[in-house]
Amino acid sequence: MKDDGRIRIFDTTLRDGEQSPGCSMNLSEKLTLAKQIARLGVDVIEAGFAIASEGDYEAVRAIASEIGDTTIASLARTAPGDIDRAGQALEPAKLGRIHTFIATSDIHLEHKLKMGREQVLEEVDAAVRRARQFTDDVEFSAEDATRTDRDYLVQVFRCAIDAGATTLNVPDTVGYTTPVEYHDLIRYLRASLPNSDDIIFSLHCHNDLGLAVANSLAAIQGGARQVECTVNGIGERAGNTAMEEVVMAIKTRPDVFEGLDTNIRTTEIYPTSRLLSSIIGSPVQPNKAIVGDNAFAHEAGIHQHGVLENAETYEIMTPQSIGRPSNELVLGKHSGRHAFRDRLQDLGYDLGDEEFQRVFREFKDLADRKKVIYNEDLESLVGANVRTQEGRFELGNLVIQSGTFATPNATVELSVDGESRKATAQGDGPVDAVFKAIVELTESKAELVTYQVKAITGGMDAQGEVTVIVSEDGRRVIGHGAHTDIIVASGRAYVNALNKLEVTQGQKAPDGPRGI
Ligand code: KIV
Ligand code: ZN
Repeated sequence: MKDDGRIRIFDTTLRDGEQSPGCSMNLSEKLTLAKQIARLGVDVIEAGFAIASEGDYEAVRAIASEIGDTTIASLARTAPGDIDRAGQALEPAKLGRIHTFIATSDIHLEHKLKMGREQVLEEVDAAVRRARQFTDDVEFSAEDATRTDRDYLVQVFRCAIDAGATTLNVPDTVGYTTPVEYHDLIRYLRASLPNSDDIIFSLHCHNDLGLAVANSLAAIQGGARQVECTVNGIGERAGNTAMEEVVMAIKTRPDVFEGLDTNIRTTEIYPTSRLLSSIIGSPVQPNKAIVGDNAFAHEAGIHQHGVLENAETYEIMTPQSIGRPSNELVLGKHSGRHAFRDRLQDLGYDLGDEEFQRVFREFKDLADRKKVIYNEDLESLVGANVRTQEGRFELGNLVIQSGTFATPNATVELSVDGESRKATAQGDGPVDAVFKAIVELTESKAELVTYQVKAITGGMDAQGEVTVIVSEDGRRVIGHGAHTDIIVASGRAYVNALNKLEVTQGQKAPDGPRGI
């Protein structure tokens, strides 16, 4: 295969990203995000780990059914059951890839797998051959490759090639390597393996030492042609390689990455980043490269002066190139359906008719309470709808009494399985009183682990967005709610979390296959 310099972007936001605490998503959230990631132009979407749970299986299958022109991958260990489950989930895919992996470092063999090197080779051979019965597109990953004995790693990869793997991934699973070392490893593998020109070498970095992007770029220079990465760099522990940083580094420095390019539509980077943040309810840090709030903000007078004279004095790329809209007022009370739909599309939301009508009604309702509506308000509004977990509980009216002289007291109406119920409770504060009333009505045993509130935009009439984490029997879920009244937002977030918890009832806590 001739090297045409194309760097394939393998997006694992929905698998390695989703696996990290606080980033879990439900099916409709995953589908919405997958569609936007496809619009971004990635080459492969790793949609999940089909054997890990029913939810993962469903997500891989739904994404494989709905997204046609992007390769959809499912992760699988080498066990036959894993491979078959991935193959079944990918059945509707136009372009499906099975991504199978096993650890290869001595420390993993001895303490985790309790297998010898020969046995691991047999597993690799059998798994790749089995995967090839479902698809011609098989990727093999040697987990903890960067801490694996090099000669043994070559043996493992040779075995995967002989069995039919077409992409070989070299994960830095624990974020241990350094740029020069990783670059050298990729070169060594390419030089040591037969027909390596016919193989795509892939990199997969974790950010434990803050080196994921630097290591990824070094691997590209060493000949890797697939980057495994996530939007906003979310992922296990300190995260994975941030897609937007690698893509913009390649684009901004063609002199360094000569002849190399990706298929990414960079103007979709910012909408994708915002969409993910709003779905998982986790803002990116303000100083995050490319997509952080301050990434293009020039505070120092001398910088501002320079930028006004000539933007290139302090700007190496433009906000427009990553699709960052200016933060102007976007819509108001008199905006019509057309403008509303256009703006949602700009933000990455492509809603079906029914959902669109519901969100439009909520937008009008919000516009009655809040004069200026910013992109962030719309993201929160639509994100809340995408996130909404249809469930047993639905919050109705809520009345609270609170203040310096009154004991905080809340009366909450809640529909439980379609039956309307009402309860009154007292608490340390109005939010506590609302939560106690909800607990009484739902008979929930869940523990509230985290409660956070933030203003979505500036201004006296800003909406508050509440995020709660609740846990029960080792299962943790995240709930969100937004409203101009933070007590209502709190009630919504709590009910959203309890509905999600109901859905996960009977599902295993995330050990088992997830504990990789
Ligand atoms: O970090 C890792 O090793 C992984 C593999 C499953 C590719 O995520
Ligand atoms: Zn990983």
